[in-house]
Amino acid sequence: MKLIIDTANVKEIKRLCEILNVWGVTTNPTIIARENKPFEKVIAEIDEVLDKKQTLFVQVVSTDYESMVEEGRYIASLRKNIVVKVPVTADGLKAIKTLHKEGIKILATAINNATQGFVAALNGAEYLAPYVNRMSNYTDGVEETIILQEMLDEHDLDTEIIAASLKNTGQVKELIRNGIESVTLPVDIADLMYLNPATDEAIDAFTNNWYKVYNKKTLR
Ligand code: G3P
Repeated sequence: MKLIIDTANVKEIKRLCEILNVWGVTTNPTIIARENKPFEKVIAEIDEVLDKKQTLFVQVVSTDYESMVEEGRYIASLRKNIVVKVPVTADGLKAIKTLHKEGIKILATAINNATQGFVAALNGAEYLAPYVNRMSNYTDGVEETIILQEMLDEHDLDTEIIAASLKNTGQVKELIRNGIESVTLPVDIADLMYLNPATDEAIDAFTNNWYKVYNKKTLR
């Protein structure tokens, strides 16, 4: 099981890497643009807070085949442990084939149904990012992701699903209990994986009860 963080905010990446077992960081053009800094600076800053084993995912911006391939090669040159994100369109699928042949690791992204994911897997994508919550506008996004996993299993494709576009921990729980290997979580959902007001209440009571007897809020 891989827990991935869907943000380019270095402070949040650093904070969450200290709290959780973060396998990697996913970005997309919207997420990077949100930082409002030059692209290379954002990537360099993320690289600095990640260790070498943590994988970074960076997406192409262009939408035509030639430029996607060119940007994919450039992204792949930025870091050793990096995966190029390519949206599943006709040009994107062509680019996935080409980049895969060159040994570049690909995450096929913006997947909005199981068949899109399946054809991207056949083209050599290492990872697939179904947009679970966005799919939920017109179908059951969790169920569609599970169907995609079943299709991969049935045909012995070892392409890995990284479920994306997650908006609540209920979606995350359903995916994990159904065997989906990886999820990429926005910062607020990553925090909601462990925060619970009832836990804070319990701790307050422990501290207060201890204080009443020992007149201090520490063990020693
Ligand atoms: O990487 C971004 C992807 O997870 C889509 O998320 O929140 O834009 O639907 P969202």
